Amino acid sequence: MSNYHIENLEEYFQVYRQSIQNPELFWEEIAKENFLWRKKWDNVLTWNFSKPEVKWFEGAKLNITENCIDRHLDTRADKTAIIFEPNNPDEKAEHISYKQLHEKVNKFANVLKSKGVKKGDRVCIYLPMIPELAISTLACARIGAIHSVVFAGFSATALATRINDSDCKLLVTSDGSYRGAKKIDLKGIVDEALESCPGINNVLVAKRIHTDVFMKPKRDYWLEPLLKEAAIDCSAEIMDAEDPLFILYTSGSTGTPKGMVHTTGGYMVYTAYTFKNIFQYRENDVYWCTADIGWITGHSYILYGPLCNGATTILYEGVPSYPDYGRFWEIVEKHKVNQFYTAPTAIRALAKEGVSHLEKYNLSSLKVLGSVGEPINEEAWHWYNDNVGKKKAPIADTWWQTETGGIMISPIPYVTPTKPTYATLPFIGIQPTLINENGKEINGNQVSGNLCIKYPWPSMARTIWGNHQRYKETYFSAYENMYFTGDGALRDEVGYYRITGRVDDVIIVSGHNLGTAPIEDAINEHPAIAESAIVGFPHSIKGNALYGYVTLKEAGKNKELSALKKEINQLITEQIGPIAKLDKIQFTNGLPKTRSGKIMRRILRKIAEKDTSNLGDISTLLNPECVQEIIDNAHN
Ligand code: PRX
Repeated sequence: MSNYHIENLEEYFQVYRQSIQNPELFWEEIAKENFLWRKKWDNVLTWNFSKPEVKWFEGAKLNITENCIDRHLDTRADKTAIIFEPNNPDEKAEHISYKQLHEKVNKFANVLKSKGVKKGDRVCIYLPMIPELAISTLACARIGAIHSVVFAGFSATALATRINDSDCKLLVTSDGSYRGAKKIDLKGIVDEALESCPGINNVLVAKRIHTDVFMKPKRDYWLEPLLKEAAIDCSAEIMDAEDPLFILYTSGSTGTPKGMVHTTGGYMVYTAYTFKNIFQYRENDVYWCTADIGWITGHSYILYGPLCNGATTILYEGVPSYPDYGRFWEIVEKHKVNQFYTAPTAIRALAKEGVSHLEKYNLSSLKVLGSVGEPINEEAWHWYNDNVGKKKAPIADTWWQTETGGIMISPIPYVTPTKPTYATLPFIGIQPTLINENGKEINGNQVSGNLCIKYPWPSMARTIWGNHQRYKETYFSAYENMYFTGDGALRDEVGYYRITGRVDDVIIVSGHNLGTAPIEDAINEHPAIAESAIVGFPHSIKGNALYGYVTLKEAGKNKELSALKKEINQLITEQIGPIAKLDKIQFTNGLPKTRSGKIMRRILRKIAEKDTSNLGDISTLLNPECVQEIIDNAHN
């Protein structure tokens, strides 16, 4: 295990150099010594970014659940693998040991098999943060089915789109979910979605809120009786390292969501290795990531990374504000959490409520703090560092993406000196670079540009499900021989990276990626609306909020504009989900356009940001007159 854990800065630089000078040798050694393979690889890496094609550990055979569960049974059978902390603090937490997890995953896997699920089939999982979510995900991996977890905050339409895109044949859901004080009728959403999903033959339904729900005969089955009857043994399907493990959808700036495909071997090696080092996980630590398993953070750093290391990982069902804003800290105290990983938006929301909620709890167990999903602003960084970490628990500001599978740029706590708002240095094996407006690599420090990665890493997504061309165009066409991240970044005088934000039409709201096109499409479905444009503007808690400029087909002939605003947000909620609702809606007589008819979002963005001092040359627009009108009526 010597090469598996970085201890100091000198070692980081040394190991980093090795990983860059001879990546294949480096990853081969990590893979060889720290994982359970049924057969070793013939080739460590083959790659070609122009196709693009990337293969790690080709020819190797394994099952990731044997690495996450079975291999711990000799030494950690009774160790807690998952602590389930329910939404309601009065409900008892559940501790699931590695041995119990083994049994539960096997049983679930047998239920999937009994419903005809086989290796390579796609299974959609639409569940709240309850143990069945972790178990069903792992059960798919056990039998080689490809899981597609859809965040349970998505609407029926969004769920149906994702189910159909990857042609899922079975869906796992629950009767409902708790979210703070609210109960959500998940099964109702599923029923609506399935009206347009002919490929789903079976629905497995977990009981969570114990309400009466409609159960369609020969399609819907309660899980509990099936699990009771299922056999406790299920041998793991032996997979190729490059067999798909899962599909996870992420928003693009245009079109339908992109089903990012992650494969088995490289994903396992990279998520496990980053987890160990970035969270500095030690054998008896309790680790908590507050993300939802419906996002990549939950896949990699609630499930696969921690379990591969035999860690204890917390699965929290609820929200930071229920029953009050002390809930996170109560959980930290209760389970003596050592590593805590959350998003800047949560930190800002908690900071706003003041430190009194924190002061009631003992947070001395915390050793490492993590941040993910969006840039962390200076104020939030200091609040987190001073009040949560008491200046003793370093912050790992981790930059990465659904597409990258694992953390790419981050300090290694206790190794890399931190700097507020900086994700700092590339992780081992990662070769970032900045590209200028002429498409050239920028050397030296104190520079900024578009962030790209020059060399493959084991956990990168291999394709977009059903659309390799789109994968190529989105990530490998902007610059030759580079993976383009879609983010802008700067590099300071010592080579630390600071991520400045998206440079495309994706807006990050409360840590969620939202493409502008799908939101505009939803709005434009309204019969009274001619067209719309969405931009982001700074928001003190969400990071960014959405500003919609909307033109009506027949101005003046409409009902109350306030009623129309409600209908717009209703449409967005139905098509995408409440996370994509607009904070501000402005009705305009026109949208600024180029002579070729393209909406000039740059101008709209500046107006939404209340920064109209320098709009650039607007005289070349098709309709420059609308700009002043928009400025005059903005933010009303
Ligand atoms: O813009 C970056 C931002 O989130 C995007 C990726 O979003 P998603 O695929 O949903 O994955 C989020 C969780 C890994 C990135 O392109 N982002 C993520 N982490 C950071 C960040 N921006 C700044 N700092 C970060 N630490």
